[in-house]
Amino acid sequence: MKNFEYYAPTKVKFGAGVEKYVGELCREYNATKVLVHYGSGSVIKSGLLDTVLKSLKDSDIAYVTLGGVKPNPKLSLVREGIELCKAEAVDFILAVGGGSTIDSAKSIGFGVKHTGDVWDLFRRVDVVTECVPIGTILTLAAAGSEMSGSCVLTNDITDNKLSYGHESCRPVFSLLNPELTYTLPEYQTKCGIVDIIIHSLERYFTTEPTMDITDNIAVSVLKNMIKYAPTAISNPTDYKARAEIMWTGSLSHNDLTGCGGVDDWATHDIEHTLSGEYDVAHGAGLSALWSSWARYVMHVKPSRFATFARDVFGLTGEDDIDLALSGILTLETFFDSINMPIRVSQLNITLTDDIINRLANIGTLDDTVTIGSFMKLGASDLVNIFNLAK
Ligand code: NZQ
Ligand code: ZN
Repeated sequence: MKNFEYYAPTKVKFGAGVEKYVGELCREYNATKVLVHYGSGSVIKSGLLDTVLKSLKDSDIAYVTLGGVKPNPKLSLVREGIELCKAEAVDFILAVGGGSTIDSAKSIGFGVKHTGDVWDLFRRVDVVTECVPIGTILTLAAAGSEMSGSCVLTNDITDNKLSYGHESCRPVFSLLNPELTYTLPEYQTKCGIVDIIIHSLERYFTTEPTMDITDNIAVSVLKNMIKYAPTAISNPTDYKARAEIMWTGSLSHNDLTGCGGVDDWATHDIEHTLSGEYDVAHGAGLSALWSSWARYVMHVKPSRFATFARDVFGLTGEDDIDLALSGILTLETFFDSINMPIRVSQLNITLTDDIINRLANIGTLDDTVTIGSFMKLGASDLVNIFNLAK
């Protein structure tokens, strides 16, 4: 196993009604003027925004608001947010929403501290190691951004979707009330379920020798999602199912399931080329791609995929390759059973040879970098995976 550093500084308050602590917590983290950042209206409709603003007022904390974050959050709104924070001397950013809102908040936070253009951070031509402190009130269990040290942003001129990470953007607090997810459209609940599963898989599939404790946590994450997903989908107001999924989502992406291994992230990187270009929901892009990635790379270490099949699904068999393929098929069948796409065509995207070549070049910066670690993938590998996934 590899040496590792584990850093998860986010204070989490979990349970019904925890959003009412937001004013108190902003005060605890010395906020004097808060940017309250939110999406396209769900938090207005649910009344959550009113609750948040009242809590801030009750704690005598000044605030400005900026709504309008779209899924696959856009650079143009981030630029607007940076200007607003500078003009208003904002010293704390509160994201109220899903992963897109949180990532938009983090990007603004980096942009305020950075002297150059914020997009240069995502293009990897510049670095900033400071972010305005971030707090979150999560309304969608999915991206895990409420405890993660990274954000993903789409340039709405070039359609490039890129990530940037630094520990300084890990939220100082996150308020997780499962009831806030009751109003989610069914499709978003399902996209979140897929995303949470894949976050652990991106870490589980490593060629390094692993720690049992890390593997066991990952296997629990996966089993828990498969167990509670059907209830959360069929009965959206089932508190137990929503709570299990919400906390599993945070644990799946706060690095616990990667300790001692080497993360892969190829499925995510390939998916970001798709969702940047076609604006598809992140979770749907992941389910459309994962099994094709898995079948393509499995030969590198079939025993790891066989262990996955045994430990997560209880499958048995002597031959590692047969077992590996059965495990991949079982997860693919699970995605299909909750009506999530397992091929890109189900996203209404027709992958022609030209499109595949373009996406493969975007994903590998014109074949100058590889992605993934379980198997390092260049442009020709991405072409093969897209062909399997189309
Ligand atoms: O904008 P509003 O009106 O709030 O509507 C949102 C949006 O349309 C809606 N929604 C959220 N909570 C709701 C709700 N509707 C009703 N009731 C509620 N309680 O759901 C839609 C999707 O929201 P979004 O924030 O886009 O979804 P998600 O949380 O899945 O975030 C996806 C983004 O996170 C990135 C993805 O790439 C994508 O851009 N990721 C960020 C990561 C990170 N920072 O660590 C890691 C992930 O792997 C991921 O890449
Ligand atoms: Zn994800």
